[in-house]
Amino acid sequence: MRFNTLLVFALFLASSQARPDRSLKQAAIAPAPQAVRDLLQAPAPAPAPAATTYTLADVATRNSLTTGVWAAINGKVYDLTAWVPQHPGGADRILAIAGTDASDQFNAQHAGDPTPAYYLDTFYIGDLAQG
Ligand code: HEM
Repeated sequence: MRFNTLLVFALFLASSQARPDRSLKQAAIAPAPQAVRDLLQAPAPAPAPAATTYTLADVATRNSLTTGVWAAINGKVYDLTAWVPQHPGGADRILAIAGTDASDQFNAQHAGDPTPAYYLDTFYIGDLAQG
């Protein structure tokens, strides 16, 4: 019993010795370097540049699997290359619109359908230049 009490006391002493020194812990947190402090003071970064704009002539050069399959649909430009083998309506339909403004074909087939619109969004690369 007495021995146990001593043992508990000894363990308590040992554990309090093992506790890290608070002052050492604080010393380990160095102040942020000047460069970091400057960054924190700096004004917010400029907004990201506007999305890229392509002309229909740009789109027309991407008209095959070799060049890449781009299409303009409703004022936006899409890189549909990866979509060609995945299209549930067949690869030929996507290849047929490669390099063109395919708004009419797309709207005729898919206007108002959320799933085609959802996939289309994932291929967006820029806006079609006006005029
Ligand atoms: C622009 C010319 C296009 C034509 C003529 C066309 C035609 C078709 C056809 C005939 C089907 C089969 C419908 C059925 O199985 O009942 C289909 C399905 C589908 N197409 Fe297209 N498609 C075109 C472009 C696109 C594009 C650009 C996307 C998206 C990137 C797309 C996404 C889909 C999806 C997700 C389906 C599966 C059916 C659904 O969820 O509505 N299509 N398409």
